[in-house]
Amino acid sequence: MSQGLVTVAYIGATILFILSLGGLSHQETSQRGNFYGMAGMAIAILATICSGAIHGFFAYLALTTAMGVGAYYGVKIARDVKMTEMPELVAVLHSSVGLAAVLVGYVNFFGSKAQFTGIEESIHNVETYLGILIGAMTFSGSVVAFGKLSGKIDGKPLLLPARHWLNLGLFIFMFWLGKSFTGTDSTSLGFLYLFLMTLIALGFGVHMVMAIGGADMPVVISMLNSYSGWAAAATGFMLDNDLLIVIGALVGSSGAILSYIMCRAMNRNFVSVIMGGFGTGSGQSSTVTTASGGEVVAVSAEDTADLLKSAKSVIIVPGYGMAVAHAQHIVYEITRLLREKKINVRFAIHPVAGRMPGHMNVLLAEAKVPYDIVLEMDEINEDFLNTDVVVVIGANDIVNPSAQEDPYGPIGGMPVLEVWKAKTVIVLKRSMASGYAGVDNPLFYRENTQMLFGDARESLDTVLSHLHDR
Ligand code: TAP
Repeated sequence: MSQGLVTVAYIGATILFILSLGGLSHQETSQRGNFYGMAGMAIAILATICSGAIHGFFAYLALTTAMGVGAYYGVKIARDVKMTEMPELVAVLHSSVGLAAVLVGYVNFFGSKAQFTGIEESIHNVETYLGILIGAMTFSGSVVAFGKLSGKIDGKPLLLPARHWLNLGLFIFMFWLGKSFTGTDSTSLGFLYLFLMTLIALGFGVHMVMAIGGADMPVVISMLNSYSGWAAAATGFMLDNDLLIVIGALVGSSGAILSYIMCRAMNRNFVSVIMGGFGTGSGQSSTVTTASGGEVVAVSAEDTADLLKSAKSVIIVPGYGMAVAHAQHIVYEITRLLREKKINVRFAIHPVAGRMPGHMNVLLAEAKVPYDIVLEMDEINEDFLNTDVVVVIGANDIVNPSAQEDPYGPIGGMPVLEVWKAKTVIVLKRSMASGYAGVDNPLFYRENTQMLFGDARESLDTVLSHLHDR
């Protein structure tokens, strides 16, 4: 394939990736966005294979074997993964991008150093150094994020004494190593500097994510997403591949924007999140003490069905528990039935409901809930005041009034869905246990709140059968 054709293919793939990002930002267009992304990647792979960069039978054999193994595991993992395990999977995928950047960096260091002289050599060295640095931080940070999300590592932040000074010291040392690396002609000394920096960057990634508490993990995931993009861009520079640079920059910047949006949704300052120590999940909120003294009113599935039937307006607030219980299809059935009875049913989606951005939207779309009744927090928060019944399905932190009433509590200042303003609130959960942030919820003790205890799917099944009965 001529170089001109490869460039045209790369530009085509880049346009498809941009269209893909645009498509993925709305539910209605997300399937199209996925298709654009897949088409762009297929073109990118084909153009790279045909670009003349691969020489010899064994290189093709190695490539096709690696692609075959990768494709097999990709399909298997995508088929097997549960919706609730998606954040862990994303963390694992980020770690592999980081690891790839590290490996490419070392291959680059040993393989192509002799090709460059003068300023080109310095630029090449900086690319290699930065690629390995970002890659190593992304790799170890993502591995720890995976550990925390899957519960294999304690979610509480690890706050070492003088950790900010430690981080600063490590950064200065890595800067010095980088300066020495670009200034030396000796391969063995260069390798030593690179190796030392890799160890420190790995430790830095571990320390950075260990210092971040459970409730702030969503931001960490999108931040690592951004890092993995920059690691890919650095790999593109090392391999002199324009497309990889552009894709890396797209992923890096969209991840950074997502981190910013998430920080706003949780009322966190991005720098404070990265510095660590937030989202401790300690549950030491002052509201908790007063709230726990209140009374909890339980309600039956039959009474819930009666309440729903006599309502004019209903808002459903799904949370992580709906995902765990796989209750979305029954939620849809109930919604359909109520709408047939001319009851105004809508859904309120908090930006960090569940365990990943868009978690609830994906589940509701899978259950065929119409998009136009699924509203974002900002669009619906003022409507709770005029709503007869709010049904909270397996959500906790995102409807916790202590975020507003206890500014110094673990979730203080986080914007929440103001469900307590409705006439009646029904909360479906299995027990009085706290949510992800480990904070007690005063909503459960409010006068207008009733608790429907049990697995969300089983409870809703019974509600549905009572709705059918009448
Ligand atoms: P949570 O605060 O985690 O609350 C979920 C509730 O669901 C729990 O209180 C649990 O109570 C209940 N539950 C679990 N399984 C259930 C089942 N089978 N049936 C009925 N109820 C069940 O969830 P949320 O309100 O969606 O808030 C999300 C939290 O996760 C936030 O703190 C957010 O910061 C964090 N987070 C979000 C993300 C993203 S990006 N969305 C990523 C990581 C972390 P019981 O045990 O009593 O049933």
